[in-house]
Amino acid sequence: KIVNGFSVINYAQERRLLLPAFNTTNLETTIAIVQGLNDANLPGLVQISSNNLQLSSPQVIADITRYALTNSNVPIGLHLDHGKSYEDVKACVDAGFTSIMIDASHLEYEENIKEVRRCTDYCHLYGIPVEAELGAISGKEDDDVNEADCKTDPELVKDFVERSGCDLLAVSVGNVHGLEATPKIDLHLLEEIAKVSPVPLVLHGGSGIDFDVIRKMKQFNLIKVNYGSDLRKAYIQTFGKAYELNHNEANLFGLSTKATKNVRNKAKELVTIINQ
Ligand code: G3H
Ligand code: ZN
Repeated sequence: KIVNGFSVINYAQERRLLLPAFNTTNLETTIAIVQGLNDANLPGLVQISSNNLQLSSPQVIADITRYALTNSNVPIGLHLDHGKSYEDVKACVDAGFTSIMIDASHLEYEENIKEVRRCTDYCHLYGIPVEAELGAISGKEDDDVNEADCKTDPELVKDFVERSGCDLLAVSVGNVHGLEATPKIDLHLLEEIAKVSPVPLVLHGGSGIDFDVIRKMKQFNLIKVNYGSDLRKAYIQTFGKAYELNHNEANLFGLSTKATKNVRNKAKELVTIINQ
């Protein structure tokens, strides 16, 4: 069963654990994420970004996740990552997602608050937590390229959280999306944000960030770390290597099985290391 987002967060907080949120795109990755978390016996989230949902639908992704969770023994929620609109958010909640992000960080401050408020008003009716973003994270996520890099202003944090009603806050503290840019985490800024934030913090762009730094961030109320590219790379590499060796390679079943195993191992490795 897909576990409610608040329950997953409480479970992690009680045990002082950091929740990885692993991005999925397809069936194999979703299964691999659930297996990796179960191998490590640690909780986490399967997440899918708004643009990836276009490959199928919120309903299909929720069904796949439910199927993947059939024999799961750890709490795992299903999160909408970088929700683009109220309509996206509503469609995911209605399909059975148990955690939501609305990313209106590209909008002006007041507009960002307004858009998040609309979503929290809806999600809270169903007891579902909402993550919002203040500041902008640069880098590349699939086809989405964001040039803007604007660090989170600690002076705005309290007002933003209180008026938007968000339950988690994604921060921009030198983190970047994708593997092409180098993250440079400003721990001092994170500390300043943590001092004034009424809610736990979220780190996007987990791939490529030093594990020591991530573990240090835990003391500044960090609860969730997003990993996208690391898993995508583990998946894609499996096919790329096979193709390099044999341009006539056509064993899709064999390679999909291998790719699932590689993503499973990567997810297990990441969730274990960040919680050491
Ligand atoms: O929202 C998704 C994450 O922030 C993924 O970032 O691909 O750099 O791990 P990443
Ligand atoms: Zn992100």
